Amino acid sequence: MNQVVILAGGHGNRMKAAIPKPMLRVLDVPMLSWVIRACEGAGLSRICVVTGYKSQYVEMYLNNRYRTALQAEQLGTGHAVMQAESFMREFEDGNTLILNGDAPFIDSETISNALKLHEAEENAVTVVTAELEQPKGYGRILRSENGLAAIVEEKDATDAQRAVKEVNSGVYWFRTKALLELLGGLSQSNAQGEYYLTDTIGLALEKGWKADAFQSENPDVILGANTRKDLLHLNEIARQRVLDRHMENGVNFVCTDGIIIGNDVEIGAETTILPGTILRGKTKIGSRCTIGPNCLIENCTIGDHVTLNAVQAYESEIEDAVKAGPYVHIRPNSHLKNGVKIGDFVEIKNSTVGEQTAVAHLTYVGDSDVGKKVNFGCGTVTVNYDGMKKQRCVIGDNCFIGCNTNLIAPVKLGKGAYTAAGSTVTKDVPDYALAVERADLQMKEGYSLKKLKSKLFPDSDKK
Ligand code: UD1
Ligand code: CA
Repeated sequence: MNQVVILAGGHGNRMKAAIPKPMLRVLDVPMLSWVIRACEGAGLSRICVVTGYKSQYVEMYLNNRYRTALQAEQLGTGHAVMQAESFMREFEDGNTLILNGDAPFIDSETISNALKLHEAEENAVTVVTAELEQPKGYGRILRSENGLAAIVEEKDATDAQRAVKEVNSGVYWFRTKALLELLGGLSQSNAQGEYYLTDTIGLALEKGWKADAFQSENPDVILGANTRKDLLHLNEIARQRVLDRHMENGVNFVCTDGIIIGNDVEIGAETTILPGTILRGKTKIGSRCTIGPNCLIENCTIGDHVTLNAVQAYESEIEDAVKAGPYVHIRPNSHLKNGVKIGDFVEIKNSTVGEQTAVAHLTYVGDSDVGKKVNFGCGTVTVNYDGMKKQRCVIGDNCFIGCNTNLIAPVKLGKGAYTAAGSTVTKDVPDYALAVERADLQMKEGYSLKKLKSKLFPDSDKK
């Protein structure tokens, strides 16, 4: 059985981060998650993540979906792999893939092709490498006639070795039994006083085992992030890749400024994404929509022909031909059905809004079930929270809600019910009834004159 160990225990000092480096995000997911995905894409599901610095963050994120091994003290990449020894011993036959949790662009194809070479050549270890114009910071690959000679770290390298442009990606296939034996031979005798995993190459050769490199044609597979600047660079590469993919699928961009789209977002052909729009998570958008400018959409399903302008929407479903914006907040668990119109300064939360209902301005609809073709007057509030618990409003088809109505939940408006502007509705309204809650208007003639006298007739006192 082939298995995977991902190293995610290091601190990443230069990031000045409060969380472990592999948890820092490229687009909308942690770098660690990119690495796990590449493994799973290559059909590898037996995965152990080595945690260390602030391990609780990694544990929380992985949420028991993967095995973990704690590296209590960070003594180097070789030491990190040692922590997964009991995991590896469960299946000593087969191979173990080692990867760094902070190099997100390793891909399934490279992993699979490297394994093919590894098995065909019966190597003890196969290192994934690439040539970089700027190899600084990476371990350099020293080759011999029949394969690898060694990997030498930047800090331990001579000037001549530093000139080598082929570098170690930190991705290796090991024969599991060989790896377990080689780990026992590592020492801390190097510039950083660490157990270097890279020293296993020399040890393997000493035993007469085969070690070779699988050189990737795409140097990006190597890219890791040691600094915030590196992280930005990774984000830029990832962002452009995702945009390119959508353009190939017929998505339209007139300008890509401020557009950031997560890896898992799906968008239909002929949809236009306008500047300042961030699409995250498992968001799915249909065809012929206009999304943006300035939308933030997370984990939403959006139909065809939808127009969203300056909308923030989370964990919700928006059906075909909905128009929303500007300045609209759709909070989780909302469902806007076909043809709904939502206008400026409206918030919808945990509510269903029926076909062709209009909520045009300055309105809060929370914990409500709203029917079809309802008209909300400006400034309607569903008063869903009494300070103790949240309760629901039910609003029937074809209701007409007057401006500035307060609907005190739990309350139900029947089909075609009307509410008069300014009413606070505390009782259920029957079908086709009008609810009016208003005190009689009192008129006090001349009331303001006394107050306004000095303003209106400034000289009257002096005379
Ligand atoms: C390592 C390689 C280098 C390679 C580079 C690729 C070694 C000695 N060097 O260097 O040849 O070019 O990766 O990016 O292996 N980690 C732990 N525990 C530790 C130390 C590190 O879990 O004690 C994890 C880190 O979280 C990280 C990965 O191992 O995900 C790599 O560690 P890092 O310190 O970044 O190694 P490099 O010095 O970059
Ligand atoms: Ca690194």
